Formats: sequence, C-alpha cells, structure tokens
Amino acid sequence: MKHHKTLLRLLVLFITSCFATAICAQFKNGQLWLATDGEHINAHGGNIIFHEGTYYWYGEHRPYRGFTTEKGIAVYSSADLQQWKNEGIALSVSEENGHDIERGCIMERPKVIYNKVTRKFVMLFHLELKGRGYEAARVAFAESDSPTGPFRYLRSTRLHAGKWPFNMNQQQIAAAKNTDASKWDKWWTPEWRKEVEKGMYLWRDMNSGQMSRDMTVYIDDDGRAYHLTSSQENLTLLISELTNDYLDYTGRYVMVAPGGQNEAPCIFKHDGRYWLICSGCTGWAPNEARLFTADNIWGPWHQLPSPFMGVATGYHDMPADKTFGAQGTYIMKTGKEFVFMADIWNPRHLSQSLHLWLPISFNEKELPVIKWTDNVPNEAEL
Ligand code: DGJ
Repeated sequence: MKHHKTLLRLLVLFITSCFATAICAQFKNGQLWLATDGEHINAHGGNIIFHEGTYYWYGEHRPYRGFTTEKGIAVYSSADLQQWKNEGIALSVSEENGHDIERGCIMERPKVIYNKVTRKFVMLFHLELKGRGYEAARVAFAESDSPTGPFRYLRSTRLHAGKWPFNMNQQQIAAAKNTDASKWDKWWTPEWRKEVEKGMYLWRDMNSGQMSRDMTVYIDDDGRAYHLTSSQENLTLLISELTNDYLDYTGRYVMVAPGGQNEAPCIFKHDGRYWLICSGCTGWAPNEARLFTADNIWGPWHQLPSPFMGVATGYHDMPADKTFGAQGTYIMKTGKEFVFMADIWNPRHLSQSLHLWLPISFNEKELPVIKWTDNVPNEAEL
C-alpha cells in the first residue's frame, strides 16, 4: 500500500512537472511551440498587436492535411509573449455556398490593426475564392469590437480599378498604355522585364482592378495606415494608403520594385527610416530575403543586400541565403526592439509549420542584421 502511494506521488509529480515545462518552457526556434492547451500554435502568416496589456497573435489556422481554409483565422493571447492561450477562431469561414469566405477558400496572411478613432479592430487578409486556386488574388476586410472577435466579414476586392499610381506622370502613363501583356508568352527576357517596369500588368488590370496576394498592413506614427501587397502576378509590390477608418483605400498608391517578384512583405521604421524585408517567390520553399529602404513610405525605395547572416545552427543548418528555411510574416516592435517573425513552412502538414522569431540588430553602418538564435526573444529582454 505504502509502495503504491509513493508510486502515485511520483506519477503526479512527473505529470505536473511535464505540464509545467510544456507551458513555461522558453520557445526555441526550429521547434514546435505549444500554447497552454498543449497544441502547437496554429496561427501562420499573421501578426501580433499589443492592446491594453495583452498581446494578440492572429494567423492562418491551417489543417494538418491540405491547403484550403477549413476553419478561419485563429487568435491567441499572451501577457508575456511566452505563454499563449488559444482564443479560438477570430474570423470563421462561412457555411454558405458561394460566399466569399466559404469553407474551402484560401485565407492567407491576415493582419489586424486597431483603429484608435473608431475603436474597431480591423483585419485585412489575402483571399482566394473556393475552387479557383490563386487566380482571384483579392484583399478582404473584416472588423470587430473585441480583439478576440468574432470578426464580421465585410467584403473582398481587387485594388484601384481605373486608377493610376499617383506618382506616375502623363508620359509614364502613356508608355504603360502602349504595352500589351497578351503579346508576351516568354517571361524573364530583358525586353519583357522592361515592359513590366513600364507597367504592363498595371495596364492589363486597369479596368478589373489590381491583383493582391501576399500582404501586410502598417500604421505610421501619424496613425495613417498602409496596405503593402504583392500584385501584378506577384511581380510588383503596391503600397496603398487606407482611409481613416482603415476599411477602404484613399486612392493614393505607388508601385515598388516592378518586376522584382517580391512576396511576404514585412515593414518597420527605425530612426525615421523605413525598412522593408521581402522574400522571393518560390511557393512554400525558402529563398533569399530582399531588403529595401526609403526615407518616405512612397519611396524611392532602394534595394540592399539581405540582412540575414550566418547559419541556423541546430535547425538543419539552414543558411542565411535561404532565410534560415523561413519566410517572413511580420515585424513586431516591442519597446525599442524589433522582432522578425517568420514561418518555416511544412507544406505536407501546414498546421505544423514552425514559427521563427529573431531580433533585428543594427550594424556600424546602421544597416539591419538578422542572425539565428536558438532562444526566442521574450518580453523581459525586449
Ligand atoms: C508563398 C506565399 O508567401 C504563401 O503565403 C503562400 O501563398 C504560398 N506561396 C503558396 O504556395
């Protein structure tokens, strides 16, 4: 009997210590990150906001198998960036046939921002309609009174139908109108690239509206919000100003790096300078990150070498020129520090895709540098 009691005590101790380790362990890059429910955090391609003392992490809720959205956009909450509580689905798919966000559509790269004036949480995300692969290329809007939702789906759209970027002059508009995308079967020739730079796909989609796939949202110091998206067959980025309520476009927008094929835009501002980190365009496979900088959000944007340096020690030794196996999703500012948040995609089991958070430092030339660290920065260090 005594023997049994001791065994029972040991068992209880073992179980509680396992549980405590699971929920208190500092997250390690390259490993699964468990929420307090004991499940890997299923919030991918998303962002984090800080609101009234709590962090909220939004992201794609991905199924274990398959590529379509079966549940919606997930939200987790945390007081310290370490222990995350699963708050469920912030924006659910619809069960209605033909609805924009019908179960089986693709909802990617959700970003939530808080509008201090309207006191609403606004979500923008990349939407692909059910059964149409990636051809719809729309941005979608949803809003909520509470950070954990439920978000109300508002609408989806392509961008800027009939409108030219505000910084194009009449001569440039005339040159774009002189292009013809239907003529070019062969991509990536120098001649084709020149036409893309003139705005060949901008002109092709002028009436129907511009495509919008990988995206982020940025609120500047003055409260103005901008939508940055991969447009024109993923060849050109667009930066567009949002209206005061963050629910529409003012019509002011520019093209960035036409023909540069940039995806996964992540933006931050340091000492008055804007920095943009993007990936190349290779599906779920990692590639070399691209860095751009500008004094003004509207540009001109200048490209610089990738800020990633070294090797992901312990994580398959993934090199810097493969972004350590990851693709960026957001740059979170906590205090004065910036954290590069990324996904290490697992296309066989998307729900199991790993999270990677790395601090951004600045070198003696004031250029951003991102090196692999095993430990994930926690709130106490930021
Ligand atoms: C790369 C994008 O960054 C992801 O969000 C996703 O759309 C995949 N492509 C799909 O292949």
